[in-house]
Amino acid sequence: MINRYCLCAAAIALCAPVFGQEPIRFLADKKLWVLDTNTTSYVFGVNERNQLQHVYWGVRLWRDADLAAVRTSPEWASFDGVASTTPGEYAGWGSNMYTEPCLKVTLADGNRDLVLRYVSHQIQGDRLEVVTKDIQYDLFATVHYRVYPSAGIIEKHAVIENRTSQPITIESAQAGTWYVPPGDGYRLSYLNGRWAGETQLVQEDIHPGLKVLESRRGTTSHQTNPWFAIDAVEGDGARADEGRGRVWFGALGWSGSWRLTVEQTPHQQVRVTGGYNTFDFAYPLNPGERLETPPFYGGFTSNGFGEASRMLHRFTREFILPGGHSAKVRPVLYNSWEATEFNVDEPGQKALAEKAAKIGVERFVMDDGWFGARNDDHAGLGDWFVNPKKFPNGLQPLIRYVNSLDMDFGIWVEPEMVNPNSDLYRKHPDWVMNFPGRPRTEARNQLVLNMARDDVKEYTFEWLDKLVTENNIAFLKWDMNRNFSEPGWPEAGPASEKKIWVKYTSNLYEIIDRLRAKHPKLEIESCSGGGGRVDLGIMKRVDEVWTSDNTEAFDRLRIQEGFSYAYPAQGMMAWVTDVPNYNGRSTPLAYRFLVAMMGSLGIGNNLNKWTNDDYALATQMIAYYKTIRGTVQQGRLYRLFSPRLGELTANQYVSEDGKQSVLFAFLRGQQYGRPAPTIRLRGLDERGVYRVKPLDGSKLVEKLETASGAYLQSHGLNLALTGDYDGTSVLLERVE
Ligand code: DGJ
Repeated sequence: MINRYCLCAAAIALCAPVFGQEPIRFLADKKLWVLDTNTTSYVFGVNERNQLQHVYWGVRLWRDADLAAVRTSPEWASFDGVASTTPGEYAGWGSNMYTEPCLKVTLADGNRDLVLRYVSHQIQGDRLEVVTKDIQYDLFATVHYRVYPSAGIIEKHAVIENRTSQPITIESAQAGTWYVPPGDGYRLSYLNGRWAGETQLVQEDIHPGLKVLESRRGTTSHQTNPWFAIDAVEGDGARADEGRGRVWFGALGWSGSWRLTVEQTPHQQVRVTGGYNTFDFAYPLNPGERLETPPFYGGFTSNGFGEASRMLHRFTREFILPGGHSAKVRPVLYNSWEATEFNVDEPGQKALAEKAAKIGVERFVMDDGWFGARNDDHAGLGDWFVNPKKFPNGLQPLIRYVNSLDMDFGIWVEPEMVNPNSDLYRKHPDWVMNFPGRPRTEARNQLVLNMARDDVKEYTFEWLDKLVTENNIAFLKWDMNRNFSEPGWPEAGPASEKKIWVKYTSNLYEIIDRLRAKHPKLEIESCSGGGGRVDLGIMKRVDEVWTSDNTEAFDRLRIQEGFSYAYPAQGMMAWVTDVPNYNGRSTPLAYRFLVAMMGSLGIGNNLNKWTNDDYALATQMIAYYKTIRGTVQQGRLYRLFSPRLGELTANQYVSEDGKQSVLFAFLRGQQYGRPAPTIRLRGLDERGVYRVKPLDGSKLVEKLETASGAYLQSHGLNLALTGDYDGTSVLLERVE
């Protein structure tokens, strides 16, 4: 159903509001929009100044009579006028506004004042568009909402349109602002880190002032991830935890430079504004042109961080990742990188493939080193033809061999990069981002191709399309091993050069979208030297992401825990690799398997060095994983013990139908004689009866064959975890 409303001469044309099951309603008498998910309501309206104003975001409301027409907040003093005290829903920077705006522009005549007023809106099922316009100029900002009722998520983004007859320059374009109820005592959670140490959870109190979470790197970044959560302190001082408490959360769908500002105003408004990074940002719009912001997704729960994560997981699986509801479970893959690095050739890869097939691997991926003069990271990037010494007969013999072993074939590419020592760079030195006459800073001996250029985009699409068309390639591992530097685009001209921050990423998205449309069976992993490009924008286009180059299992517990706050296990690639690795730690192979089995399992070991015992263990673990992967990848996660807080880490996954649950538990080190804490399970039916199937019976202290949900959740399981880096798994199958 489409409902259209418009404003003529400052009067809203009132039509009958829609009640009932519609997820979006306009209460015409109060000029309020109510956006309902199954569990939450989000309300904003048009105030007496004809501006959009936030009203409410929280537990679902059911009584429209509770809601009053919205009025601006009073001015506090001459220093804090209405523009700063009022929670603007999509505010332009103008008047005396001192909080973070959603939109800031400079017009051709030098005017920099922008005051947006409501014009009209349209409701279409679960979507709402609200058109706003400057009080004087034909500069339009249309704010788009989409409600995902089953997921409890609301999406917002904006489209800025220049309908004046002169060019304008956008200096800040944000998707929107989220508000939590006014007050003090909020806490911010976010994900921070570095290369090989991504997605570390940080929690800190929100104080008055503005905190910036951002990437200025041209891509999502290892350092900070575009996700946030804010939890409230209750009147009795109680904090949200995994199972309780009010948590508001959000994530931005953008893989270029981004920015989230978390702001507590002097008037106790806590607001989060997010979109394109404003740093070095200037986006000119000619008459008739538009700029669309990235989408910003948000949700609320009263059931703590655990439920907040589960909501995002379900949402991402169903509405973001390709395949949605019908996505298959991820295959077990083997990747040759840690075994061979650049030293790939046909016999070596075939030998690894044969061994991988024997342990139950379903996808064989050849990593870096197969193309051009690529023997290390100094040369070859950009020359995407098969290296004739390493593969004298091309890729076909290897791919056919892999397929004959009942595995599909995947290959590594790094399409956005070029080594100066390559034929591509010698032919097209102008294709990299650069400022003429200035140094071109190399990182990993490579430069960044300017994907914002349409000729570079076309070239990239063409070689990727050819590679996938000519070879039976099921999967691309799409890598990106450095961030932007000297982000110049001389051909665009000084007025338009800064468009690079947006155009690079939108062209990248276009390449992937076209590739997938032309090769619908092709799957892709987003890798950026580990987890440098993990966000809901890239996840809309890829089936999985590489979590971290750090595959050391104990470090991984924390990296994966942080990842799990925002993103689902289905998209989280996790490999088992050889030891010692990274920080020199050695953990048992079983422990490494168990850690990796909490995501989408990959094997990265040098199989040529494995003993018969290693093969036997790997075969057993992979077979076990195949029985539980649906639950891990597509089920509900309960974080029971955090690696941040003690020696024990435990995670439990429950299938959506509640018939299967799997527990993973890890002990870092045991004090002699001191038992590991009892693990009380979650997410089960108290009245249900479950068969208890330990991966290793000797680890179960009480030798249970079956147990009720009540027992498992209240009495709990005691596991005999001993020594250092011990781990185990217990499978539960509902029998009654
Ligand atoms: C960085 C990736 O994260 C690694 O897994 C590997 O693919 C290398 N690049 C290859 O150069």
